[in-house]
Amino acid sequence: MKSLILVFCLAQLWGCHAVPPNLGLSYRELNCDDPESEQAAMVAMDYLNKNLLRGYKHTLNQIDKVKVWPRRPMGEVFEMELDTLETTCHALDPTPVANCSVRPLVEHAVEGDCDFRVLKQGGQFTVLFAKCDSSPDSAEDVRKVCPDCPLLAPLNDTKVVHTVEAALNAFNTQTNGSYFQLVEVSRAKLVPFTHTTYVEFAMAATDCVAQEVTDPAKCNLLAEKQYGFCKGALTEKDGKEEVSVTCTVFPTQPVLLQLQPDNSPVASPSTDNLPAAPMVLGPLLGAAPPLPLLANRAHHDLRLTLMDAVSVESASGESFHAGKAPNVVQPSMPAAVSPVVHPCPGRIRHFKI
Ligand SMILES: *[C@@H]1O[C@H](CO)[C@@H](O)[C@H](O)[C@H]1NC(C)=O
Ligand SMILES: *[C@@H]1O[C@H](CO)[C@@H](O)[C@H](O)[C@H]1NC(C)=O
Ligand SMILES: *[C@@H]1O[C@H](CO)[C@@H](O)[C@H](O)[C@H]1NC(C)=O
Repeated sequence: MKSLILVFCLAQLWGCHAVPPNLGLSYRELNCDDPESEQAAMVAMDYLNKNLLRGYKHTLNQIDKVKVWPRRPMGEVFEMELDTLETTCHALDPTPVANCSVRPLVEHAVEGDCDFRVLKQGGQFTVLFAKCDSSPDSAEDVRKVCPDCPLLAPLNDTKVVHTVEAALNAFNTQTNGSYFQLVEVSRAKLVPFTHTTYVEFAMAATDCVAQEVTDPAKCNLLAEKQYGFCKGALTEKDGKEEVSVTCTVFPTQPVLLQLQPDNSPVASPSTDNLPAAPMVLGPLLGAAPPLPLLANRAHHDLRLTLMDAVSVESASGESFHAGKAPNVVQPSMPAAVSPVVHPCPGRIRHFKI
């Protein structure tokens, strides 16, 4: 169907201006592993990780599809599908994602699936639209590589919740600093054989001193947010509970940008971050996730839809003549080894789920 329309337009040439905008005709195909595709994908991944406030950072695994649309009056829009994998760095962890390891299959990997539109203009990439979701690997696949590995447990499982409470309590008992509150349970596993529950969770500092807290409900989160990430375990043994916890407390984060609109030095370097953040920030602390997320509660779904979906398609008709359609035969090239397009999907960077 698409090729028919294309042929029709070629015949009419400028007549294509009249084509209804939503048909979107003249995209350029790009190899998924082309450096330009990768550049756009990196900007998209960066955007995703900067806007994530739950769960774990994701890293690019494979570029699935790329279409490049001309955009009026200038620039190009990369419409991409990306496959991602969960890393072991929490979303609030400032470690650059390049330094985060990918969650291996035996730890029950989580795959993300994203649609992006990335504008390239004057050599700069900007994310216009992002939509992702994610899902854990299937139980069968985990068992294939590791028959005894525990699977992700529901985050609201009673044992999980109890373990998180005990671990956070253990942390607060040992610390000399602020009292920390739970932000989210990030992942959990139950190992019935050893009666052990493993949890990972995020926490945030309050204005209370841990050693002096009498009523935690009266503690408030600091305006200058300070987050931490913990791994804890609770083992039931002879009617007793053994709790262990290891936490990393991250450097404090500057107060949100909107609170000081005319600032300059505090402004985060990520000005490409655009105003999508408040929307995502909203449900962060203490709030229950929106209903659709409750269905699968063994992980935090990447689902987030951001912003400004520019009507990409409306740009294509006008720019059709811009010489961007590579499928047009170029007669002057003597059988010039028609560029072997290894189309898409591109290479797998880690492993396929
Ligand atoms: C990330 O890795 C690079 C190269 O290994 C290293 O130089 C850098 O210090 C690391 N950064 C962090 C925050 O771990
Ligand atoms: C966990 O959440 C699910 C979905 O909302 C609910 O059906 C289930 O009863 C909850 N489990 C516990 C132990 O609270
Ligand atoms: C808390 O303070 C005590 C006494 O000053 C010290 O011995 C202990 O190491 C401190 N604990 C932490 C976690 O810093």
